[in-house]
Formats: sequence, structure tokens, C-alpha cells
Amino acid sequence: MSAQDIHSCPFILLFFFILLSGKVVVGDSLDTDKKVLLDLKTYLDNKTLADRGGYISWNTESFNPCEWKGISCSASRRVVGIDLSQSDLNGEIFKNFSQLTELTYLDLSQNTLFGEIPEDLRLCQKLVHLNLSHNILDGKLNLTGLTSLHTLDLSNNRFYGELGLNFPAICDNLVTFNISGNNLTGGIDNCFHQCVKLQYLDLSTNNLSGSMWMEFARLREFSVAENNLSGTIPLEAFPGNCSLEQLDLSQNGFVGEAPKGVANCKNLSILCLSNNNFTGVIPFEIGSISGLKALYLGNNGFSREIPETLLNLTNLVFLDLSRNHFGGDIQDIFGKFKQVSFLLLHSNNYTGGLISSGILKLPNVWRLDLSYNNFSGPLPVEISQMSSLKFLMLSYNQFNGSIPPEFGNMVGLQALDLSFNNLSGPIPPSLGNLNSLLWLMLADNYLTGEIPPDLGNCSSMLWLNLANNKLSGNLPPELSKIGKNAMATFESNRQNYRMVAGSGECLAMKRWIPADYPPFSFVYSILTRKNCRGLWDKLLKGYGIFPFCTPDSSIRIPQISGYVQLSSNQLSGEIPSSIGTMVNFSMLHLGFNNFSGKFPPEMGSIPLVVLNMTRNKFSGEIPLAIGNMKCLMSLDLSYNNFSGAFPTSLNKLAELNKFNIS
Ligand SMILES: *[C@@H]1O[C@H](CO)[C@@H](O)[C@H](O)[C@H]1NC(C)=O
Ligand SMILES: *[C@@H]1O[C@H](CO)[C@@H](O)[C@H](O)[C@H]1NC(C)=O
Ligand SMILES: *[C@@H]1O[C@H](CO)[C@@H](O)[C@H](O)[C@H]1NC(C)=O
Ligand SMILES: *[C@@H]1O[C@H](CO)[C@@H](O)[C@H](O)[C@H]1NC(C)=O
Ligand SMILES: *[C@@H]1O[C@H](CO)[C@@H](O)[C@H](O)[C@H]1NC(C)=O
Ligand SMILES: *[C@@H]1O[C@H](CO)[C@@H](O)[C@H](O)[C@H]1NC(C)=O
Ligand SMILES: *[C@@H]1O[C@H](CO)[C@@H](O)[C@H](O)[C@H]1NC(C)=O
Ligand SMILES: *[C@@H]1O[C@H](CO)[C@@H](O)[C@H](O)[C@H]1NC(C)=O
Ligand SMILES: *[C@@H]1O[C@H](CO)[C@@H](O)[C@H](O)[C@H]1NC(C)=O
Ligand SMILES: *[C@@H]1O[C@H](CO)[C@@H](O)[C@H](O)[C@H]1NC(C)=O
Ligand SMILES: *[C@@H]1O[C@H](CO)[C@@H](O)[C@H](O)[C@H]1NC(C)=O
Ligand SMILES: *[C@@H]1O[C@H](CO)[C@@H](O)[C@H](O)[C@H]1NC(C)=O
Repeated sequence: MSAQDIHSCPFILLFFFILLSGKVVVGDSLDTDKKVLLDLKTYLDNKTLADRGGYISWNTESFNPCEWKGISCSASRRVVGIDLSQSDLNGEIFKNFSQLTELTYLDLSQNTLFGEIPEDLRLCQKLVHLNLSHNILDGKLNLTGLTSLHTLDLSNNRFYGELGLNFPAICDNLVTFNISGNNLTGGIDNCFHQCVKLQYLDLSTNNLSGSMWMEFARLREFSVAENNLSGTIPLEAFPGNCSLEQLDLSQNGFVGEAPKGVANCKNLSILCLSNNNFTGVIPFEIGSISGLKALYLGNNGFSREIPETLLNLTNLVFLDLSRNHFGGDIQDIFGKFKQVSFLLLHSNNYTGGLISSGILKLPNVWRLDLSYNNFSGPLPVEISQMSSLKFLMLSYNQFNGSIPPEFGNMVGLQALDLSFNNLSGPIPPSLGNLNSLLWLMLADNYLTGEIPPDLGNCSSMLWLNLANNKLSGNLPPELSKIGKNAMATFESNRQNYRMVAGSGECLAMKRWIPADYPPFSFVYSILTRKNCRGLWDKLLKGYGIFPFCTPDSSIRIPQISGYVQLSSNQLSGEIPSSIGTMVNFSMLHLGFNNFSGKFPPEMGSIPLVVLNMTRNKFSGEIPLAIGNMKCLMSLDLSYNNFSGAFPTSLNKLAELNKFNIS
């Protein structure tokens, strides 16, 4: 008999005792704790048939549950902690947690738990840490009873009801409270007075209304972003001892002057006031918050004069003054923010001043977003000398003339977006030098000439949109080489920088992700402030966001995948057979061109989700190989000259739900 067997004896005895007495004695020993955990395991095993989480490895034979994955025990050998985050749990929350009478730590985050928070969980009065974030829990939020909580994370669920009903009941020990990304309503002004220990409060992305809670300056982090709050933020909200490090009031209906009192928050590093109705001048006092790293003031009604004091912010990395309807020339002061890496001035109705302001000489700018303005004239060659530039967004302006070949010198560039302008002339072959380029967006211009074969050297390029131009000539076989090695760029993004998001991600994403098409369309439908940041970050680092089926299985895994958009040009000739090597792509739009010749069977090797070849002059038979495109959801071969019977292999395409072969 092994030591383990001996140890399991008491448990067996206890088990018999339970059977005989028909009653459970809970809450007095590790054995009863183990019994509850075994119930939990049975419960979970039953609910999750496909993928099971770490609990599957719980050795039910072992006497000591403290050794099980995710379980932690106190010195006095009682179960005090359960971590089942990211464990593929689905179904409702287990209803016997309260039988673990010493439980202080419970993390069930990142699963697909649904239903309400059970009454039983509210009996866990010793809980100090509760994390139920990233599930699909719903019901009216009622947390009565959880009075020991120190950390409570309920973010990204579907809770509703009035936030206020839970306060001050759960206040006493609360330090961190995150309810971001739910559907709570009601006011906040009377909730937190008695929560004296509160430090981190995230109420963002709900439907809270009414006026501001005015004591927030005693917290370290406070966010009410993306709610429906209104009124002004008075000076008194910021007493001299303000301890805020991060403040986010964005996307509400606040009005009046921006709070100059915020200058009392000497430790502030992130200040976000964007998407409100703040008016008047930007308070010069903000220039004295010496540690400020990010200042988001976009989408308000600020006046044109930017205070010189802001130049004193030597740590400022991120400056967002987009959507303020400034009009006229770009203010000269922007040419003096030598410290900033992210300068967002999109949607301001600017007309001139691109060169005179000096912003094209800023030495540290990584991301320059001047889209949605009224700039005109030729693209300034000077841009090509901005050696730090990684993301250049000039779309939705009226730039004309041709793309300067010098743009091919910006070898660090990861995104070049010149779409929706009046550009003409050819695509310069020098753009083929841009081997960090992930996105090339030249759609909706008047570009002519052939697609330069040199573009095939853009080994990182996964998202290419040349639609709605006047390009002609053949599809060069070299183009099939794009996107073969985007990992180099992704790796450098994973290592080299902490990505900072601001405004403009959603705008760019809507431009870059073809909304009308699966698998991209689902992303479009859920674009909110938060998930745009998340998606942006994932895309830049090459983490998959679209679920793709793999060629030989129906299981979908998130993968990074690209597209080539060439529709509505005057391209002609045959599709080169090398196209079959473009295995990193999932959408190909060749519609509204003059392509001819046969449907290359090699195309069957691409894991395409969308293939649109409408309105061309393709002919011949549709190859059997089309049945290999297991992921295909949308196929449009209409308005061509295809002949012969339609291949029966098409029946194998289980996903296909939209097709046009007329
Ligand atoms: C919860 O505990 C009760 C009483 O011990 C038991 O009858 C019930 O089966 C348990 N529920 C689950 C889901 O294990
Ligand atoms: C397990 O699941 C089945 C089917 O969903 C259900 O009929 C059964 O009652 C469940 N058993 C327990 C112990 O929950
Ligand atoms: C809750 O869990 C999520 C996901 O596992 C994690 O990102 C988050 O930091 C946790 N919250 C707290 C307050 O620890
Ligand atoms: C919350 O639930 C408790 C019972 O667990 C109930 O007594 C209380 O009235 C509820 N509170 C609200 C605001 O619904
Ligand atoms: C709250 O949760 C959301 C979503 O999980 C997260 O993005 C955010 O950073 C959290 N807030 C705080 C203050 O930790
Ligand atoms: C939020 O709740 C309202 C009803 O109060 C409902 O109409 C709406 O669909 C909910 N929104 C979400 C995102 O769940
Ligand atoms: C927000 O709550 C109000 C009621 O307070 C409701 O009328 C409105 O539909 C809700 N909005 C959303 C987007 O859920
Ligand atoms: C914001 O609140 C007002 C009432 O104060 C309501 O009319 C409006 O529908 C709310 N907006 C949203 C988006 O819920
Ligand atoms: C914000 O300002 C605009 C224009 O100045 C006005 O139409 C709108 O009603 C204002 N919104 C609020 C919530 O005050
Ligand atoms: C900040 O800038 C203003 C004007 O540019 C200047 O007068 C002031 O001395 C500066 N303050 C500090 C602390 O550097
Ligand atoms: C942009 O500025 C022009 C004048 O330069 C003006 O006519 C137009 O109304 C402005 N557009 C917006 C959206 O402010
Ligand atoms: C193919 O593209 C054309 C033009 O963009 C569009 O009208 C058509 O709906 C697309 N076909 C499918 C099946 O989505």
C-alpha cells in the first residue's frame, strides 16, 4: 500500500459516513473541502464536453486537494483559493461554493459562464478577491453579503440594473472595483462616499447617467468612459491632495470648460477628456503636470489656441487633439512637440499648414494621423524624411498629384494609408522597399499604370487595398510573395513597444477591415472604444483575431490573415498560378476588372473565406479544386463566361452561405 492510499482512507470513511447519515457536514475540514471540490469537478465535467480546463487533471485519488491545479490552501490546511480562469468553463456558476467556508479567493474569469450570480455565492462572506470578468453573466447586479471584498472584477459581462443598489453595502473593504463593459444604469453620485479604501474604480462602458461623483480625486485610477453622464466638472472636484494617476472621463456628455483643477493631480500620467462637449480654451494649468504621458482631448469643442505651457510636458508621448473642428492651418505649436510619438490631428477640417507648422520635422513621431481633413495639393516629399514614422494616415483628404517615389525610403513604415484622396499617376515601384509594411491602403484614388512587381518584396504586407482606382495591366506573379514573413514585423512590435492607443483606431479599422465580408464583418459589428484598442494591439502584434478553419478540420482557430482587394480597376490578363502560394490570405476580391482566362485550380490551396471574381471575363470550367476551400463562406463568380457543369465538389463546402454563380 502506498502512502497515498493510506491517506485516502479517511476520505473513504467520511464518504460512507455521508452515505449513511444522508447529511453533509460542511465547512470544518480539508476533507469536507475536498468533497465540495469533487462535486465541483463532477459539475464541470458534466457541463463541458468538448474542451475541459485544468481541473481535468485533479487527481481525485490524492488525499490532498491542496496540490490540485488552481487550488490553494491556508497554513491550517483549508481550501482558501480557487483559480479556474481560462478553463473552458461554460454553463452556470457552481452553486455550492459557500460550502467552502474558508474561501477567500475565487477567479472564474475568461470562461463562458452565463446566468446570474447565484444566491449561494453571496453567502461566501469571507471572499476577498472575486474575479468573474470576461464571461457572459447577466441578471440584475446584486452583491449583498460580499462585505469582505477587497478586489471585485466583473468587467465584460452583461449585468444590468442600478449600480447604486449595491452601495454602500459592499464598500467596507473594497480597494479595486471593475464593472467595465456591462449594461448598468442609474447615477453614480451617491454610491461611493463610504468606500473609503477604494483606489481603482473602473465604471467604463455602461449606461450610467446623471451627474458626476465629485470625490473621485481621492482614487488612483478612475474611469467612467463611455457612459451617459452629464453636467460640468467643477474646480472643487480636484482638491490639493488629488492622488489620481489615471483619469478617464471620455465619451460622456460633459459640458463647460475643461477642469483646470486637474493640475492639482501631480501624479497624473494619463488624462482623457475626449468625446465630450468641453469648450473654451484648453487649461494652461495642464502644462504643470510634469509626469503627464498621454493627453486625449479629441472630439470636443476646444478653441484653436493651444497653450504654450503644454510644451513643458517633457514626458508627453501621446497627444490627441482630433475632431475639434479647428479648421484653417495646422497650428504652428504642433511643430514644437518634439517629445511626442503619437500625434493625432484627424477630423479637424484643416486646409493648409502641413509644411509651415513644422510637424513634418518632428523627430519622434511614430504615428501621424491627419486623415479626415481638407488638405490638398501634392503629398509633401518631406514626410519621407520622418525617420521615426511607423503609421502614416493621410486618408480622406484631397491630396492630388502622384505618390512621391521617396515614400519608399520610409523603411520603418508599418501602415501607409493614402486612401480616399485624389491621387493620380502610378504606384511607385520603390514602395517595394517597405518590408516592414503591414498595410498598404491606396483605395479610392485615380491611380493608373500597372501594379509594380516590386510590391512583391513587401514581405510583411498582409492587407493590401488598391480598389477603386484605374490600375491596368496584368496581376504580376511576384505579388504572390507578399505577406510571406510578417512575423518579423510582429515580433519587433511584441518586443519593442508598449502599444499606446488613442482615437482613430476604430476609424482606421473600419477603413481597413472590409466590413461587408466574413470573417471580418463580425469585428465591425462590435467595434467599441475598448475593443478597437484591443484589436489594434492584437493586429499589430500579429495575434489572431479572426476565427479561421484550418484546411483539414472544422475546428476554428484564431489566426492572423490578410486580404487583397483589387476590385474596380482595369486589370486584365490571366491570374498567375503562383497565387496558390498565398496561404496567409483569406479574402481575394478581383471583381469589376477585365481579368480573363481560366480559374486557376491552384487557388484551391488558399484558405479563402471570401472569393469575389464578379464582372470579369473569366472562362473555361470551374475546377474541382474549389471543393478544397473548406473555409469558403462567400463566393461570387457571377458575370463571367464560365462553362460546363458546376462542380459537385461545391457541395462539400459546408460554410458556404452566400454565393452567386449566375
Ligand atoms: C450541493 O450540495 C448539496 C448538499 O450537499 C448536494 O445535494 C448537491 O448535489 C450539491 N450540488 C452540486 C451541483 O454538486
Ligand atoms: C449532466 O448533464 C446531463 C445532460 O446535460 C443531465 O441530464 C444531468 O442531469 C447532468 N448531471 C448532473 C449531475 O448535473
Ligand atoms: C481578472 O481576470 C482577468 C482575466 O483573467 C485579468 O486580466 C484581470 O487582471 C483580473 N482582475 C484583477 C482585478 O485581478
Ligand atoms: C439582493 O438580494 C437579497 C437576497 O439575497 C435581497 O434581500 C435584496 O433585497 C436584494 N437587493 C436588491 C437591491 O435587489
Ligand atoms: C477593468 O477591466 C477591463 C476589461 O477587463 C480592463 O480593460 C481594464 O483595464 C480594467 N480596469 C482597471 C482599472 O484595471
Ligand atoms: C442594455 O439594457 C437595455 C434595457 O435596459 C437593453 O435594451 C439593451 O439591449 C441592453 N444592451 C446590451 C448591450 O446588453
Ligand atoms: C440606457 O438606459 C436608458 C434608461 O436609463 C434606456 O432608455 C436606454 O435604452 C439605455 N441605453 C442603452 C444603449 O442600453
Ligand atoms: C442618455 O440619457 C438620456 C436621458 O438623460 C436619454 O434620453 C438617452 O437615451 C441616453 N442615451 C443613451 C445612449 O442611452
Ligand atoms: C454638444 O454640443 C453640440 C453642438 O455644440 C450640441 O448639438 C449637443 O446638443 C451638445 N451635447 C450635449 C450633451 O450637451
Ligand atoms: C512652462 O511654460 C511657460 C510658457 O511656455 C513658461 O513661462 C513657464 O516658465 C514654464 N514652466 C515651467 C515649470 O517650466
Ligand atoms: C470646413 O471648413 C470649411 C471652410 O474652410 C467650411 O465651409 C466647412 O463648413 C467646414 N466643415 C466642417 C465640417 O466644419
Ligand atoms: C462581390 O463584390 C461586389 C462588388 O463589391 C458586390 O456587389 C457583391 O455583393 C459581392 N458578392 C458577394 C457574394 O458578396
